[in-house]
Amino acid sequence: MSTSFANRLNGSILLISSMFFGLAHGVAPKALIDDGGMVASRSALATEIGAQILADGGNAIDAAVATGFALAVTYPSAGNLGGGGFMVIHLADGTVIANDHRERAPGAASKDMFLDEEGQLVKGLSTASHLAVGVPGTVAGLLDVLARYGRLDRKRVMQPAIDLAAKGFVLDRDLAAQFARRQDVFAKYPASVAVFANEGAPYKMGELFVQTDLANTLRRIQKHGKAGFYEGETADLLVAEMQRGGGLISHDDLLGYQSSWREPIRGTYRGHEIVSMPPPSSGGILLVQMLNMLEPYDIAGMGYGSAQSIHLMIEAERRAYADRAQHLGDADFYPVPIKELISKEYATKRFADFDAKRASISADIGAGEIPAESLETTHASVMDKDGNAVAYTTTLNLSYGAKMVVAGAGFLLNNEMDDFSAKENSPNAFGLIGRKANAIEPGKRMLSSMTPTIVRKDGKPLLVTGSPGGSTIITTTLQVVMNVIDHGMSLSDAVSSPRFHHQWQPDRVMHETYAFSPDTKALLEGMGHKQLIAIPAFYGGGIGDANSVMHSDQGFQGMADPRNAGAAMGPGQLGQ
Ligand code: DON
Repeated sequence: MSTSFANRLNGSILLISSMFFGLAHGVAPKALIDDGGMVASRSALATEIGAQILADGGNAIDAAVATGFALAVTYPSAGNLGGGGFMVIHLADGTVIANDHRERAPGAASKDMFLDEEGQLVKGLSTASHLAVGVPGTVAGLLDVLARYGRLDRKRVMQPAIDLAAKGFVLDRDLAAQFARRQDVFAKYPASVAVFANEGAPYKMGELFVQTDLANTLRRIQKHGKAGFYEGETADLLVAEMQRGGGLISHDDLLGYQSSWREPIRGTYRGHEIVSMPPPSSGGILLVQMLNMLEPYDIAGMGYGSAQSIHLMIEAERRAYADRAQHLGDADFYPVPIKELISKEYATKRFADFDAKRASISADIGAGEIPAESLETTHASVMDKDGNAVAYTTTLNLSYGAKMVVAGAGFLLNNEMDDFSAKENSPNAFGLIGRKANAIEPGKRMLSSMTPTIVRKDGKPLLVTGSPGGSTIITTTLQVVMNVIDHGMSLSDAVSSPRFHHQWQPDRVMHETYAFSPDTKALLEGMGHKQLIAIPAFYGGGIGDANSVMHSDQGFQGMADPRNAGAAMGPGQLGQ
């Protein structure tokens, strides 16, 4: 990062934070528009870095990678070096490809590693222990994507993140409050306290947050590439951290980690093409499966928020999530019937028992018959002016992952092992259940719900979207996509509108308070829908965080989800 950019960046922090101060107090959010491309992410600083990369001639891939490294510094609850993620890419020539840098189970992991002698789950072992940590994939993924499709070099793309870590940035209300709330969980690990407390006391808004160890780790990666993380000093520090707490990750696990290039899941919906993440995510398959079930129905005619359209969507969700539990896992280890699950024929059969007047009962909904055949994440969306687009979702799993900073290396480790099905039919932290398809095996990737998605119209990217939110990621993405395609909403409305969620088990409907009017709720209950639970969607709460970008006649639109303190920005807004 040039000095002038660094100065401008620091100068704009005040502007950006005052913008969010306004937002938090109820100023209606609207999408930003720019002709030069667009970045939307959960962190204003990381978004601005991506926009600057676009301004400097980088493409959407450069901007997404730079934003990704920056999120590891400016949004540490989910942005990461010690976690994993997925990137779905559309190139200007029409090619689509996905990079899978999901964490993997260490070589010494075993199916029953989270069970006690009686075969019961040991509480907290898969979320809050050194055993919870999967082999991190983010660094391999971001660097592989950059090397293959970026225009700029590693030095340029990583420098802004290094500067933010080394020189620090001023904590806004959002981050200062996040750190303060978690002091007791960080207390278990001295290295975490060293990073997230200010000499033992909670950080306050307005204080400078410097991360020296993290800056040095980033510098090693900048200098040596993947070897700066998976080998040498960083690897030694990570393995030492594992040994301190009985974790399993070894030098061999780190050396053996590779990101995987995957064919995205592709489906169609009312003349649009859906391009999304394949296994080890369940996101793309479930999204396409649900859209296939809904396509025969006149959702637009029923109207946004109508009891009939909500009923249809809940029933599609119920069936798709039941299939997830049975059929989905890492396709490198288990024969996931992808082709069947995303076919229109399968959707027709699977939805044949839909009753327009009655809710079905989850306990009666098993997994669909397949013919034999062989609480934190973050999402960023980018489009550039040349026609490239990137949907990027990344995570440590729960907020701040295992809450465990690698001593001396300054980055947090994930607790992604909880996304495996540690015991058949026992819920994970998101209430999701799984079976053999998602059982723990050495080297296997745990099933995800992350759904980075690109919607194309006539071969061109129309919408880039995705979300955090564990099991609610897929239904959040579904609603943003349907809001745009079925209801013709503006990006601003599509992202802001209230959301709801059903995941088959438990048999309940979570909904943001204003998603269901009292009479709609009564209609749904009348059909037999059970446990309609209202969640307040105040600033910092609600379901999902879908930072999205859309291409329209007016230009590139960017919309940070108003539920949180993200930001959208194009190169034209820099320095404004
Ligand atoms: O990969 C997954 O599906 C989960 N580890 C995501 C976790 C998540 O979204 C938490 N955020 N709110």
